[in-house]
Amino acid sequence: MSVRKEAIAVLISGRGSNLGALIDACADAAFPARIKLVIANKPEAAGLERAREAGIPARVIDHRDFSERAEFDNAIHEALEQDDIRYVCLAGFMRLFEPQFVDRWRGRMINIHPSLLPAFKGLDTHARAIEAGARFAGCSVHFVVPEMDSGAIIGQSVVPIAPDDTPSSLAKRVLHAEHALYPACLKLLCEGRLKIKGRRVLVEGGEAPDQQLTNPTI
Ligand code: GRF
Repeated sequence: MSVRKEAIAVLISGRGSNLGALIDACADAAFPARIKLVIANKPEAAGLERAREAGIPARVIDHRDFSERAEFDNAIHEALEQDDIRYVCLAGFMRLFEPQFVDRWRGRMINIHPSLLPAFKGLDTHARAIEAGARFAGCSVHFVVPEMDSGAIIGQSVVPIAPDDTPSSLAKRVLHAEHALYPACLKLLCEGRLKIKGRRVLVEGGEAPDQQLTNPTI
């Protein structure tokens, strides 16, 4: 079965494993998105190679080439408009946008964050979850708003924390969950089934994309 595919851009800063998961999902004719553009703010981002291997146009818009944050945002906006991008996925994109840019993409830009929001916004989420003695970690996909990691939550995956976990062993387990969660959330967005009501996201005619990783050996 083939479906209408919405034009997506994925913004990255590094490795690009979530980008890889989205590329794999989009390869299915029944998945309602196609990645039309990848943008990295760093020329050395490994994910660029991944995009090119998949035949996806991959551009570098280096934030260091702009003296003002708003100018960088405008360059990104122009690139997205040029390609008629409908939805934007931030996937390990390590720059904060100005509120004006975020408002232009409100409801059309999503991010993946490696914690169970609203806990552990920001960096070093896994070390902080272990340090806090949490029994469960996870990841969240959310709409992007001007405040960092604070938009309405589309879906979450819960991942157990083992007693001997290190930040890197936990990161590996959470990343595995991220790669399933992000495509599931993007699918609902592209199908037009997400409605934002205040701080909550309602899924029309279907299940929320939440998941629970039951195999702690990963
Ligand atoms: C992921 O853990 C994501 O949740 C966070 O940054 C990391 C990016 O990893 N926002 P990758 O570049 O997708 O491999």
